[in-house]
Amino acid sequence: MPPPTSTTTGSRRSNSIRPGPPRYSRSSSPPAAGSTDRCSRFGGPATITPVADGEQNLVEAIDLVREYRLGEERVRALDGLDLSLAGGRFVSVVGPSGAGKSTLLHLMGALDTPTSGTIRVAGVDLGSLDDAAASEFRRTTVGFVFQFFNLVPTMSAWENVALPRLLDSQSLRKAKPRAIELLERVGLGDRVDHRPSELSGGQMQRVAIARSLIMEPAILLADEPTGNLDSATGASVLELLSDVAHEGGDRLVVMVTHDPNAASVADQTITVRDGKIA
Ligand SMILES: Nc1ncnc2c1ncn2[C@@H]1O[C@H](COP(=O)(O)OP(=O)(O)OP(=O)(O)O)[C@@H](O)[C@H]1O
Ligand SMILES: [Mg+2]
Repeated sequence: MPPPTSTTTGSRRSNSIRPGPPRYSRSSSPPAAGSTDRCSRFGGPATITPVADGEQNLVEAIDLVREYRLGEERVRALDGLDLSLAGGRFVSVVGPSGAGKSTLLHLMGALDTPTSGTIRVAGVDLGSLDDAAASEFRRTTVGFVFQFFNLVPTMSAWENVALPRLLDSQSLRKAKPRAIELLERVGLGDRVDHRPSELSGGQMQRVAIARSLIMEPAILLADEPTGNLDSATGASVLELLSDVAHEGGDRLVVMVTHDPNAASVADQTITVRDGKIA
C-alpha cells in the first residue's frame, strides 16, 4: 500500500490497458447532461463534484497550496501551483529534492488534501471529497507505483496483481485470468506463481505496474519508479510506463523522477521548484 501521508492513507492500484467504464457506484448524481468528455465517465457519488462544462484536462490544479505544520514551524510544500495535464500522455515531473513533487503526486491521487486551491482529476474536485469518496476515487480512478514496489511478500505475483480486485469485493480467483493477462503484458507470463522474494527488482516493479492497472485507472501516478533499479532495468520500466500511456484511451501517466533517461521517454517534462511549476 502507499506510504503514509499526513492526512489520508490507503489507495489501490489498478489497470488494464485502457480506461474502463465509470466505477463510482454510489447513489447519486448522474453525469452532467450533454457531457461527452471524461467528466461523464467519472461522474459519481453525491460527494463528488462534477467538473465544469468544457473541461478538457485530466488534471487541473489551480493555485494549489499544501502547507505542513510542525509545531510552530510551517512548511509550504506547494505554494500556489497551477498545472493542466491532458490524458493519453506520459509526463515526467522533475525538480530538486524537497521541491514538492511527491506532495503534488499525493494530492493528485487523493492520498492527501490541499490546504487551499483546487485539484481536479478526471473531472472530480478532490478537495471536496469526504474520506469515503476519496477512498473510492483512489480505488477506481487512480493507480499507484512506488519506488519500493510495496508488494505483499507472502502472495504470488498474480495474487499481488489481483489484490485490488479483492478489495473491490471480487474473489481473488475470479480476478486471476485478468491478473495473468496483465503479467503477460508486462513480460512476466512465466513468473505468475513467484513470490516477490523470488523476483528481481525490475520484475517486482513490473508486478507493481500490472497491479496498478487492474482497476483500469484513468491516471497512473508513479513516484520514483526506477529509483531502486539499475539503469538498464529502469529504462525498460520507463518504456513500459510510456506504453501504458499510449496504448489507447486517455490514460495519463505522471511520473516523479530523478532519472535522466526519463526526459527522453516522456512526452512532456514539468519542473517543480519551491512548490511551483518552474
Ligand atoms: N508530512 C510532512 N510534514 C512536514 N513536512 C513535510 C511533510 N511531507 C513533506 N514535507 C516537506 O514538504 C516539502 C516537499 O516535500 P516532498 O516530499 O513533496 O518533496 P520532493 O520534491 O518529493 O523531494 P524528493 O525529491 O526528495 O523526494 C519538503 O520540504 C518536505 O520536508
Ligand atoms: Mg519525493
